Amino acid sequence: MAKRSLQKTLEKNVFLLAVGTLLAISVGGIVEVAPLFYLDSTIEEVEGVRPYSPLELMGREIYIREGCYVCHSQQIRSLRDEVERYGHYSLAAESMYDRPFQWGSKRTGPDLARVGGRYSDEWHVLHMRDPRSVVPESVMPAYSWMETTPLDYNMVSKYLETLATLGDPYSDEAILMAFKDLEAQVDPDHEGVDALMARYPKAVVRNFDANSEEITELDALIAYLQMLGTLVDFNTYNNENDFR
Ligand code: HEC
Repeated sequence: MAKRSLQKTLEKNVFLLAVGTLLAISVGGIVEVAPLFYLDSTIEEVEGVRPYSPLELMGREIYIREGCYVCHSQQIRSLRDEVERYGHYSLAAESMYDRPFQWGSKRTGPDLARVGGRYSDEWHVLHMRDPRSVVPESVMPAYSWMETTPLDYNMVSKYLETLATLGDPYSDEAILMAFKDLEAQVDPDHEGVDALMARYPKAVVRNFDANSEEITELDALIAYLQMLGTLVDFNTYNNENDFR
């Protein structure tokens, strides 16, 4: 009787084949998964990326509440046409403090990952009040109530505290001062501006909606939009995969 090869034995015996398959897959799986248990983070840290300031955080909440992500992505892909239109492609670290992330999956409107600083606050006010007043062909809905709706930020300290328990680096002081930091960010004359800037470098401090009577939802939303994509300095950021 001819000697049967291992391959033939395996192919003819379903049980042995299943065991063999399982073995092969496990080895591959372990090689891929095991290193992750020994890494603190899979995200490469990048200089400049910091947690959101209290006002930006509240603006981000409004962005999520209103479903802006349905029409806008926040993820510039590493393709030449995207990089030429929107700027440097998004780095993983840039959304490391996003819970939940806002990468999005549809672009009815442009990507917003680097919209910060691209327009003036006045432009944003007009655009939110009535998008067609600044972009006649726009299909974006108007969000005109935001400029007359006071921002509800009673819970902002709790919010920071919750994020801190999840690992975001908000210090006890940052949590304690969240209320004041939020108020300082819409008032350049506020006594707390220096402390705010020390805690949140590059924070934009302005009366965003030009209404100094009260802090509105629009203040928070524009504060958020104006910082998007501005934290990393790409003149000093080096990446060997950079093709620009
Ligand atoms: C129905 C889809 C839709 C929704 C929902 C939507 N947008 Fe837009 N958005 C657009 C379109 C289309 C444009 C491009 C035309 C324009 O500028 O209005 C746009 C443009 C923008 C721009 C200017 C971007 C640029 O680079 O020119 C900003 C900022 C913006 N939207 C913010 C928001 C925010 C904030 C929300 C949620 C409160 C939102 N959008 C909700 C469709 C949408």
